Amino acid sequence: MSPMATQRVHSIATLGADGIGPEVVDAGVQVLRKLANLDGTFKLEFKDYDWSSETYKKTGKYIPDGGLEELKKHDAILFGAVGAPDVPDHISLWGLRLAICQPFQQYANVRPTKIFRGTESPLRKAEHGDLDWVIVRENSEGEYAGQGGRSHRGLPWEVATEVAIFTRHAVERLIRFAFELAQKRERRSLTVVTKSNAQRNGMVMWDEIAAEVAKDFPDVKWDKMLVDAMTCRMVLDPRSLDVIVATNLHADILSDLAAALAGSIGIAPTSNLDPTRQNPSMFEPIHGSAFDITGKGVANPVATFWTAAEMLIWLGEEEAAKKMMDCVEAVTERGIRTRDLGGSAGTKEVTNAVCAELEKAYGSSKQT
Ligand SMILES: NC(=O)c1ccc[n+]([C@@H]2O[C@H](COP(=O)([O-])OP(=O)(O)OC[C@H]3O[C@@H](n4cnc5c(N)ncnc54)[C@H](O)[C@@H]3O)[C@@H](O)[C@H]2O)c1
Repeated sequence: MSPMATQRVHSIATLGADGIGPEVVDAGVQVLRKLANLDGTFKLEFKDYDWSSETYKKTGKYIPDGGLEELKKHDAILFGAVGAPDVPDHISLWGLRLAICQPFQQYANVRPTKIFRGTESPLRKAEHGDLDWVIVRENSEGEYAGQGGRSHRGLPWEVATEVAIFTRHAVERLIRFAFELAQKRERRSLTVVTKSNAQRNGMVMWDEIAAEVAKDFPDVKWDKMLVDAMTCRMVLDPRSLDVIVATNLHADILSDLAAALAGSIGIAPTSNLDPTRQNPSMFEPIHGSAFDITGKGVANPVATFWTAAEMLIWLGEEEAAKKMMDCVEAVTERGIRTRDLGGSAGTKEVTNAVCAELEKAYGSSKQT
């Protein structure tokens, strides 16, 4: 049977948005196109949307009317980053990224971290293989539920509230997701992170729900940590961690620390998943729009490559995703790295090197 006869088709919406976002998304699309062409068993169709802070400044909207319905037609979304120096960050974040994640109920935010071959962790004693974590972040409520307000603006007695919302429904589904993920990994270990000593309502409920859900996963070893102590454990004992689950805010912070401990924020991916698959899931590098390096051609595209590989796994293309990641690591191992990883290569050089590595990989697998 010819490969074309069984070719699967995946439709991807691309949203580069702001700063280095379009640069790294373009690099990701170049590698994905190369991979799909070489592989031949699946096809990727891309549609680009130019929603960004520029369009917001022109039209007053990040997402045009009917935009979410349009996105729903796709199987997945590949996102860059949103944020511009002349738009307040809370406007850009809520205008685009959260305006997709929340209505699409992408409640599980999954952030794997590892030290790539050929790269160095700032931790003196951690090497490739010593740090291999997946952080699962609650992505629908918590500290980012948008509850709160401001009164008496500008007056000396001005008051602002930021109310964290924790519902049993959302916490339970997320913790269950984290246990299921841990169950599939070799070490089958989960650490539940809260702050239940100081935050005695929502965080105590998290701990209780974790203990309840754990009963359904006797084969997963689990423990719990306070978020402050967790930062020490990540630095001092990285080998003791596997899957980590935490609230929207806590996991947001811990995953930046995780990315830095693995070598750079320029390699770290994120999946915003709707595990019910009723809506497309969204895949993005963890980093932001990085104004300081925009347009210089030095942005590390590796986070977007890993993000793209996670997207392929979600779409059922595990084998191709693995091949792609092997090629990305072969490139970092050969020393073709951007500045953030201690190298001198630009975005294009790394991207072209990954494409060349893919050609080699598929060439050699066809010969065998
Ligand atoms: N998901 C998102 O869209 C998202 C995430 C974080 C920040 N932001 C936004 O991005 C803007 C800038 O935020 P920030 O400066 O706090 O974080 P940032 O991630 O944009 O940059 C932090 C530092 O990391 C470096 N960096 C980031 N990505 C890199 C890459 N791929 N290669 C090499 N170096 C890289 C930057 O040069 C900068 O020095 C803000 O508007 C913020 O709101 C958006």
